Amino acid sequence: MANAIRLADFRSAVFFVGAGMSAESGVPTYRGRGGVWGQYDYAEYACQRAFDRDPGKVLDFHELRRTRALACAPHAGHTALANLQAGHPALRVVTQNIDGMLQRAGVRVDAELHGSLWRLRCATHGVREDAATGSFATRHCERCGAALRPDIIWFEDAVDERVFAHAGDLIGDCALFVSVGTSGVVYPAANFIPLARRAGAYMVEINPEATEASAMFDRCIAEPAGTALATHFR
Ligand code: APR
Repeated sequence: MANAIRLADFRSAVFFVGAGMSAESGVPTYRGRGGVWGQYDYAEYACQRAFDRDPGKVLDFHELRRTRALACAPHAGHTALANLQAGHPALRVVTQNIDGMLQRAGVRVDAELHGSLWRLRCATHGVREDAATGSFATRHCERCGAALRPDIIWFEDAVDERVFAHAGDLIGDCALFVSVGTSGVVYPAANFIPLARRAGAYMVEINPEATEASAMFDRCIAEPAGTALATHFR
């Protein structure tokens, strides 16, 4: 492929991933056609207030998302990214996605900015993995009986400062920054795009549509992630 981006030309690289990376696997994005927030009001299904009001309804919604994610499979773009990372250990991955699809493809994920569908947390006793099936293995903490909530950063939640600090260290020092499938409109995660620019990284955006952040990129690849990752990088 002419003018493919050679990872060996960069001392470090961060792939910054959004929901569009999972679109070709069949996992719906959040905005735009068929988006999750077009079908479900996050204020009813994905925020602490909704959980406090009706934990069962919120957990049911997240079990539905888990079941749907399990019915999907990683696509050629995930495999391409896993292969690139295998050949270039300095390739780091920071994702906003909670579906675990990158990990299923064998991609080493350095930061899950918005948590994971495959973990639950007790306010007192912390986080536990629960990745077996669509249904949660248990909905209550075995130590205190409190209702467990998904370990996801919902709207109005505080972010996990340690996760964001780690992502900031990686992005603030990267030589290549590749944004894959994000609309770049949700903060504070979207701040990582100008951070990469300020770090002097070569900026690449992979998105079939232009975004509000497109002007910050040196190169915009208006293709789906599956095609772009498999053909424009080596
Ligand atoms: N390949 C690449 N990009 C794609 C594809 C594809 N096949 N299909 C769609 N896209 C792009 C869309 O054009 C859009 O810009 O993916 C982007 C998805 O945007 P959003 O749905 O806003 O998802 P994301 O940017 O990840 O949202 C950020 O918002 O709701 C919160 O916490 C949630 O992590 C999420 C955050």
